[in-house]
Amino acid sequence: MPPEQIVALLQWYADMGVDVAIADEPLDRFAESAQAPLASPPMRSVPEADAARRAPAAAAQPRMASPAPTMLTTSPDAVELAAREQARSARTLDELRDLLERFDGCALKATANRLVFADGAPDAKVMFVGEAPGRDEDIQGRPFVGRSGQLLDRMLTAIGLDRTKAYIANVVPWRPPGNRDPTPQETTICRPFIERQIELVAPKVLVCLGARSAQALLGVTDGILKLRGRWLDYDLAGQRIRAIATLHPAYLLRQPVQKRLAWRDFRAIRTAIEQDMS
Ligand code: URA
Repeated sequence: MPPEQIVALLQWYADMGVDVAIADEPLDRFAESAQAPLASPPMRSVPEADAARRAPAAAAQPRMASPAPTMLTTSPDAVELAAREQARSARTLDELRDLLERFDGCALKATANRLVFADGAPDAKVMFVGEAPGRDEDIQGRPFVGRSGQLLDRMLTAIGLDRTKAYIANVVPWRPPGNRDPTPQETTICRPFIERQIELVAPKVLVCLGARSAQALLGVTDGILKLRGRWLDYDLAGQRIRAIATLHPAYLLRQPVQKRLAWRDFRAIRTAIEQDMS
């Protein structure tokens, strides 16, 4: 292929959000689907299907982008259960981070550069939880360090906070390839870890940045424009703390006119922290 065509192709990939290679060898999915039988394969019983997944003959099946070992052999429910048990066993934030570093149940770990665990003060009164790391966070290993993070820092400053007085994390601690949304399954598998992280930080106020964070943590289904600014209770190991959802900084970068709504929410957050101190 001539160099200018390669450049054009790569540019197109980048525009489409395809900015990581997830395997060393290219895989021709078109050739694969051309060979695939049109009729659905016969249904197999679960034990048979499990055996087929474990057997060496699995090599005859289409090659996947090297998923984490547990994903090949364990059902999503079992992975979720393992995640819950492991997260519960962590007694400190350091232990939780170590567990996550070793946890292979979420396929996102295979494509991300590193774990993005948290930033800020573990003894903070207020904890902000975003959705998932983006490209800059994946490079630096800290949440909210890209453009939306810079906006978040300015919003924190506006209410007298900074990263020495707030704790920041994400529902999903690995970057989804190309910044796609985490799948419901990825979110379900990662949720026990962020829930344990919230328990260990034990903030007085929990702030969900964006709809996906609010939906994962607060058990709500509304869109963010309906959800934002409403105080809800979050059950922190039997104790209720105040939780609020607000607009995600990345959304505010796209819709700057909505900053006035976020400003309202941030003032309410400031007031809640002050009330807790008095
Ligand atoms: N968006 C998020 O939700 N989290 C980050 O860490 C960065 C961008």
